[in-house]
Amino acid sequence: MTQRAYIAEISNYHGKDVKIHGWVYNKTGKGKLLFIMIRDGTGIIQAVIFKNNLKPEIFEACQNLTQESAIIVTGTVSEDQRAKGGYELQANDVEIVHIAEEYPISPKEHGTDFLMDNRHLWLRSSKQHAVLKIRHEIIRAARNYFDNLGFTLIDAPIFTPNACEGTTSLFETDYFDTKAYLTQSGQLYMEAAAMAFGKVYCFGPTFRAEKSKTRRHLTEFWMIEPEVAFCDLNQDMDLAEGMVEYIVTKVLENRQDDLEILERDVSKLENIKRPFPRITYDEAVEFLKAADADFVQGDDFGATDETIISEHFDKPVMITHYPAAVKAFYMKKDPQRPERALCVDMIAPEGYGEIIGGGQREDDYDTLLHDIKKHDLPEHAFQWYLDIRKYGSVPHAGFGLGIERTVAWICGRPHIRETIPFPRTMYRLNP
Ligand code: 4AD
Ligand code: MG
Repeated sequence: MTQRAYIAEISNYHGKDVKIHGWVYNKTGKGKLLFIMIRDGTGIIQAVIFKNNLKPEIFEACQNLTQESAIIVTGTVSEDQRAKGGYELQANDVEIVHIAEEYPISPKEHGTDFLMDNRHLWLRSSKQHAVLKIRHEIIRAARNYFDNLGFTLIDAPIFTPNACEGTTSLFETDYFDTKAYLTQSGQLYMEAAAMAFGKVYCFGPTFRAEKSKTRRHLTEFWMIEPEVAFCDLNQDMDLAEGMVEYIVTKVLENRQDDLEILERDVSKLENIKRPFPRITYDEAVEFLKAADADFVQGDDFGATDETIISEHFDKPVMITHYPAAVKAFYMKKDPQRPERALCVDMIAPEGYGEIIGGGQREDDYDTLLHDIKKHDLPEHAFQWYLDIRKYGSVPHAGFGLGIERTVAWICGRPHIRETIPFPRTMYRLNP
């Protein structure tokens, strides 16, 4: 039996016979020669189909192979300097598993709506494939970063009675005799878990009924959210910049080929080394004033504002001390300036916007209760959360990294919809 091999590992089989299971990416040739580019999900290799090396009926059948037909090619792995990857396959047998119908996605330009309608097929295209390989690397690196630091992974629930990030973007659903929300963030549960395990993180999907049609918003997106007991804002920022540096380093180390497919300028990524700049909200506002931006002092930054600020730096920038009024109810206030929150947003370079939001949490029972009421949140739903301030309350902090915005930045993709396998937005629930 000839051994099955994956294209990514083909260099291990130099001179040997292998079977490659895959799909026809492209087919050229004439007369006695056919060249078939096969992709198997791990890479692409050219199979050389020479009439004299195969049974005549098989060579005949190969002529009819269409794009995306499924095949198993048996052949000898040979070196070829011109080939991408350095190897090709001298075929001696081809098993046709399925002849594909006319494939809707061709190398010609398609509109985005068409491609998104065909997202289930578009995933096979090289750029989309590269983005999702890098997404996997980013998730793996983020998790490894926390695992290596001794964090415990604690899964947060998806159904919740609590609004964590404001009541305007809640997805409500029937829950037997009552109502539940789809979680906007695992944070509140991580705070409880941090008091049990010291340092924890969750990684999961989060949901927001974002009515905005921007390049940065999904209704379903994934967040990694660490939370640490006995941690202040500065230590939280140390953790955040360490994680982002680690993620970028791992992508550069392990996904060079994919960055190349995406034509990403890697010199910009190679520069992502600690320390990252740390500025206050007030300092950021100075940049906006200098740029004559259409910005009202005291407001939260919009996408354009973030871009203007990010242009001053070639690394992610961490902005702290926003007005408490524009931030979530759970933020601890700065004791020196109670109208300011001990919060941090990390803004990616090159105009990719906010990738991290976090900060120090209110750890005083009375203050937190007051803030819950001030934000018109139902006190009874937050009783369990208030409990954390009753039994050994300590300073604690954490943050959430949005995976898709991080993928967009690292891959240099302008639109967030390409950074998740099946995007969900106000206008898209299909496929
Ligand atoms: O700044 P946010 O709202 O912070 C929180 O949810 C905190 N509870 C996290 C924490 O402290 N544990 O969201 C965090 C990040 C943003 O910086 C952004 O990267 C991403 O989540 N994000 C979105 N990504 C895609 N689509 C959306 N609609 C997003 N909303 C937030
Ligand atoms: Mg935010």
